[in-house]
Amino acid sequence: MKEEPRFSREHWSSRLTFVLASAGSAVGLGNIWKFPYITGNNGGGMFVLVYLACIVCVAVPLLVCEMLIGARGQANAVQAFENIHGPRSPWRFLGMLALLGVFLILSFYSVVGGWVLEFLTLATTGRFVHTDPQAVGGMLEKSWADPARQVAWLFAFITLNAVVIAGGFKRGLERANAVLMPALVIILLLLLVHAALLPGIGAALAFLFWPDASRLTAGGVLDALGHSFFTLNIAAAVHITYSSHLTDTKSLGRSALAIALFDTVIALLAGIVIFAIAFSFGMETGVGPTLIFRTLPVLFANMTLGWLVSVLFFLLVAFAALTSSLSMFEALVCHATETCAMGRKTATLTVAAAAFPLGIASALSTNVLSEWTLRGKTAFALLDWVTTNLFLPAGGVGMALFVGWVMGPKAVVLILGERLGQSLWGRAFLWLLRLPAPAAVCAVWIRGLMG
Ligand code: TRP
Repeated sequence: MKEEPRFSREHWSSRLTFVLASAGSAVGLGNIWKFPYITGNNGGGMFVLVYLACIVCVAVPLLVCEMLIGARGQANAVQAFENIHGPRSPWRFLGMLALLGVFLILSFYSVVGGWVLEFLTLATTGRFVHTDPQAVGGMLEKSWADPARQVAWLFAFITLNAVVIAGGFKRGLERANAVLMPALVIILLLLLVHAALLPGIGAALAFLFWPDASRLTAGGVLDALGHSFFTLNIAAAVHITYSSHLTDTKSLGRSALAIALFDTVIALLAGIVIFAIAFSFGMETGVGPTLIFRTLPVLFANMTLGWLVSVLFFLLVAFAALTSSLSMFEALVCHATETCAMGRKTATLTVAAAAFPLGIASALSTNVLSEWTLRGKTAFALLDWVTTNLFLPAGGVGMALFVGWVMGPKAVVLILGERLGQSLWGRAFLWLLRLPAPAAVCAVWIRGLMG
């Protein structure tokens, strides 16, 4: 009898669907909500420069590595390591770390997803038209103060995810992605045109692109590194899972570059728009997670067709958030179905039922649990910080070492192609993975943790 492959897998219908789905997973709240606010918290220009350097020098090489592990492993994030290195390989713990990380991220990400859903309904009912900045500024805080409302929106967001995954709508959503992601760029460009007419645009550009080293701390460098991982979903099982549905390892490098470029452009666009508003209306830049929710509505209030634009904007952001959280769900569900022999529906329900209670801790961080802090961080901030700045970089170091030392020169040839892979560039890339990349991450880590 012919032996069955370890898992028979569905494959992407084309390279483009793979790239679009991966980009859809990368572009999300990290670009539109998190990047602007952590840039504001870390003083602007220098932070952006370090962030861009981290994307190019560390995150993109690791992205390619992860794609290669998926494409070669042809399985979920844990099994993929065993398929490459052998049964019960200790490297499988790297996959487990990634899955744990992505589960923790899903819990607080869904809380922010809930805020976006709430703002979408506020936009629909015309709440951002004819409002003054002061009134808008307090809208999110008002919602934060209400524990039941926070938990309800969290529930709504998680349920939406579960319905899409269990109902098999994922393929359809991915097709929608091909239209909605360019639409997001278009609406950001439209907002950019409006923002460019505001008096604060010069100050915004200077803030974002004029590096002032004195404003960046060691903790800020760690934030930049961590965020380069977060925004590209490095070391979080997602890319292994998505790439495991590829049939070959062709042009991984090009796919990774395209994803990173698209992701970065969206983040920078969002940043310019948001800071132009902040500087034009005399708002503080370091207000934290509320930044986009207090700046953007002011622009909507001051533009023609503001109602329509605000609805479209929050709709597209909700979609971007959903395609990202779905990728987290998918990584967890894929592992549960393949290794725990669960059906897809049961696995989805299990993930949702586990993420919801943990999410509640984050949802209550802004109200009843706001006093529960560790080193000044609420449960929400702590989950974000620990996953972004500890889990993802640790996983990234592990992946670089795995590809560099275990898969070795063969991996480089697969990534860069026969000619380039065997050239001096190929050797340089191999050694980048083996030593400088992990060492740089560790150095930033130690400095950042020491404060
Ligand atoms: N990168 C996505 C964003 O920027 C979030 C995301 C999706 C993510 N999947 C992930 C983050 C896995 C970390 C790990 O919004």
